[in-house]
Amino acid sequence: MFDIKNITEIEAAQQLEFLAKEIEKADIAYYQNDAPYLDDAQYDKLRRLNDALEAKFPHLIRDDSPSKRVGALVKSEFKKVELKVPMLSLADIFSQEELKDFILSVKRFLNSSDDIVFTSEPKMDGLSFSALYVNGIFSRGSTRGDGKIGEDITENLKVIKGFPLYLEKDVPERFEVRGEVFMSKEDFLTLNAKNEEEHKKTFSNPRNAAAGSLRQLDAKITQERNLSFIVYTWGEVSDIRWNSQEEFLNYVASLGFPVNPYNKICHNDKELMDSFDSLMMQRSSLPYDIDGIVYKVNDLELQRRLGFLTRTPRWAIAHKFPAEQAITRLNNIRVQVGRTGALTPVADLEPINVGGVLVSHATLHNEDEIKRKDIRVGDMVVIQRAGDVIPQVVSVLKDKRTDDLPEFQFPHFCPECGAHAIREEDEAVRRCTGGLSCPAQAVERLKHFVSREAFNIEGLGDKVIEDFYIEGIIKTPFDIFTLEQRNQPADLFSSVSSLELEKREGWGTKSVKKLFEAIEKSKNISLQKFIYALGIRQVGAATAYLIARHYHSFNSFMNAMIQKDLQLLISIDGVGPAMAKDIVEFFNEEHNLFIIRELLKVVHVEDFEGIENTNSEIFGKTVVFTGTLTSLTRNEAKSKALAFGAKVAGSVSAHTDYVIAGENAGSKLSKAQELGVKIISEDDFIKIIS
Ligand code: IVH
Repeated sequence: MFDIKNITEIEAAQQLEFLAKEIEKADIAYYQNDAPYLDDAQYDKLRRLNDALEAKFPHLIRDDSPSKRVGALVKSEFKKVELKVPMLSLADIFSQEELKDFILSVKRFLNSSDDIVFTSEPKMDGLSFSALYVNGIFSRGSTRGDGKIGEDITENLKVIKGFPLYLEKDVPERFEVRGEVFMSKEDFLTLNAKNEEEHKKTFSNPRNAAAGSLRQLDAKITQERNLSFIVYTWGEVSDIRWNSQEEFLNYVASLGFPVNPYNKICHNDKELMDSFDSLMMQRSSLPYDIDGIVYKVNDLELQRRLGFLTRTPRWAIAHKFPAEQAITRLNNIRVQVGRTGALTPVADLEPINVGGVLVSHATLHNEDEIKRKDIRVGDMVVIQRAGDVIPQVVSVLKDKRTDDLPEFQFPHFCPECGAHAIREEDEAVRRCTGGLSCPAQAVERLKHFVSREAFNIEGLGDKVIEDFYIEGIIKTPFDIFTLEQRNQPADLFSSVSSLELEKREGWGTKSVKKLFEAIEKSKNISLQKFIYALGIRQVGAATAYLIARHYHSFNSFMNAMIQKDLQLLISIDGVGPAMAKDIVEFFNEEHNLFIIRELLKVVHVEDFEGIENTNSEIFGKTVVFTGTLTSLTRNEAKSKALAFGAKVAGSVSAHTDYVIAGENAGSKLSKAQELGVKIISEDDFIKIIS
């Protein structure tokens, strides 16, 4: 390059102009498109050169200088896609009896006593997609979204191996195929192992991994992941050239689309039942997760006659498998310490393949659960994995207990800090009394503090918090806000040296800058998020919201708590005496008050703003959430509902106005259907609150 010492003013001005443009381009690629093309070292070099030139020629600093720019660029969202033919879901059944009922109801509806021919297809546990071909050219891909409006994933589908971009044969002018994108069990394990090594987020199951890989604004990430897909139905088609589901499957297969080799035709009830049993036997040896079987009336004319209920066809149903189980040895019972000091036992298992996923830990819930099931270290145990749920120990095989295994003694001292662990009367959990002097509690509190529903600081993931805590970089929440200052290069007179976070493994100027920006942004925080962030026992996001609504400002809340003014607190619908006691105790702990006061010097807690929209559809209504939500966490969804003036209840009754049903909703959904309660999807809910 050139020699900065001898550079002329004109050359410097040219160079600064060049650098401003280059750095901006690199920033856009990094922040906006998630697709950096410079590595950290190359980028740093540009920034350092820019800084050096500006130091030498301060009068040449440009208005658009990278050193003046603050704030990362905002990511764009997925484009929306209108689905002309909605993508529906299926009703679930769980037993042979329900299957018989289903077949009967189909026959009754058609007024037929003859056997009806069905297809039986493995129910792929992935993410549904829709792909529209116009004149044989792949022109638009979409997720299911709310069924009517999906997200544009055209670029992501294009990079899946084997995804046809052109169809050679003559096909209908507008031809939309639908199916499932999924990740094989093997690819899931490989991806997680790689991510673990690189301290990146790991996925809890292949389905989540597939969803996380497909729904990427940057299709390059999708490309790096191994995704697969199959086709099982269609959407908009200008000229339907098949008369049955079987003919459709053969047609798409002839066009080169993958279809499931386990799809079958069933001519009568017995064949339907047998198809379930046989697939269930093969389930764990399949290379991908399936969570049941889909039965569809084969004949299209009969499908047309049967038609649809609100969200599901009458001609198809999903028969779900029970959770997958396996037997393995319990090698150890480890006791973990949580944010509030709760001691939670975890089973370390001889690693075992449960339906294709390697399981090495399972939850044991609490002390009593271990006693009740008489679980001992060394036992052979039955474990179970179901969808997103953490694997559980179901039971012990007592007859396999060879030696005289001793009963498990639950520790009465904290395994992390040695403080007494006590169990209050009528509480299921034993807790460490070490408070913040217990490192485990301190770390868990920090994780909570930066979590999404609290300060929401991206860049401070679990692993980073753990490392920073151990190294003494962040010990208390307040330390987060002095991080940037402590990272400045030391001046001549100071004995404190810079943290030099840029030099840490896996970090660089850009990631450090991003982190500081996230911290800066988090300093303005809503009252309810701040209350939640404090990590007071029993105070979840919903309670924090109720408190915020009641007290309006943090000061009035804190003063009331310091004065132990319990009356007002208990008058809040949803705050009981036990919770109130915890809250008051929290505020009368000197250490907590100290941290809060320090925090208030740097963060701005906004006063409660009130109900966001009194005209909203859910204002004054009682809502119940069920199933797994995909875009919001349960806590976020609850606090949003509250913010829009709804009451959130835990169970469905005649008083429920809305049930918001996520994926795999179970009994609450059925109850709502029975009672005729209005059921809406997560996407409908998001529309109401946006
Ligand atoms: S047919 C109108 N076939 O299950 C029926 N769905 O619970 C449209 N799924 O959203 C779906 N395998 O993501 C159909 N062989 C299969 C399937 C399948 C998995 C998923 C799909 C759908 C969900 C419904």
